[in-house]
Amino acid sequence: MQDRAGFAEFVRSLPKAELHVHIEGTLEPDLMLALAERNHQPLPYPDVSAARAAYRFADLQSFLDLYYRGANVLQTEQDFYDLTWAYVTRAAQENIRHIEPFFDPQTHVQRGVPFGLVIAGILHALEDAHEDFGITSKLIMCFLRDLSVEDAEHTLATAHLYQSRIAGVGLDSAEIGNPPEKFEKVFDQAGAYGLHRVAHAGEEGPASYITGALDVLNVERIDHGVRCLDDPVLVQRLVDERIPLTVCPLSNVKLRVFESLASHPLRRMMDAGLLVTVNSDDPAYFGGYLSDNYLAVAEALDLSPLDMVTLARNSFEASFADEKRKATCLAEIDAFLATR
Ligand code: HPA
Ligand code: ZN
Repeated sequence: MQDRAGFAEFVRSLPKAELHVHIEGTLEPDLMLALAERNHQPLPYPDVSAARAAYRFADLQSFLDLYYRGANVLQTEQDFYDLTWAYVTRAAQENIRHIEPFFDPQTHVQRGVPFGLVIAGILHALEDAHEDFGITSKLIMCFLRDLSVEDAEHTLATAHLYQSRIAGVGLDSAEIGNPPEKFEKVFDQAGAYGLHRVAHAGEEGPASYITGALDVLNVERIDHGVRCLDDPVLVQRLVDERIPLTVCPLSNVKLRVFESLASHPLRRMMDAGLLVTVNSDDPAYFGGYLSDNYLAVAEALDLSPLDMVTLARNSFEASFADEKRKATCLAEIDAFLATR
């Protein structure tokens, strides 16, 4: 890979999957302002640059405060369609072939926006993404861990009505003080419904939350998980059981989980033999989409084109796509490499 532009083009063209992206976190300031006006919903930002200027975070909670405020502009099915369509259009441009977006229904239902409307808008855009771009998807519904267990149970019961349209459940929002054990029953029920299970764990919270998510929630994949390095026994288990971790480097720096990308443990995690993937988390808030994350870690940690290919292969392996789809996407990587 001779130069920077060539390397960037390589990463953008490489077939990839994205497994950790909150659809509400793809709400760019220009769409946010347009929807605020369309829905007569006041926002504290007079323009796009004022919104961007406000995106400086001290920690996860200071981000969540703005993220939930931004989500308030989403009111109609068309809004959720437009939001999702904007993301998948970008995804297509950087050759993302499979996506597993999160959505947070409680954020919307709490404001009186019906669950059915939210999911209809998102799913319609995902169907169009398949038709127009050949992007496959699995939608994952997250419970907000700082709300009550009863609220999560009620949300799961509603989701059950849309069973065939939701592939799995996850757990997000404020981590510290809301350990995975709190949601044992609701994750058991989700498992009984045949849903995949994932959870944010070990982002701000300790390594023991990762262990808890595995042992108590029976998750198949850990979102973030960067704190696993504090516990060598856990690392060995994650390696042995090939449990994927969906790591989000730009997010981690923006939310001050790590001081800089140079001190990010992604390379150490790869060297330890962990099944790591790179993802964007909330790209509209953290200053980069999927390829931007690949390129940023490559530069900061001196990762090679071969490392980029490993991360892309991992993304398909770690996905919930069926075996046939995984094989097709992995073959797309091989075909792409054969042209280089
Ligand atoms: N962590 C927890 N909750 C979230 C995040 C995150 O990174 N993004 C959106 N909700
Ligand atoms: Zn996340």
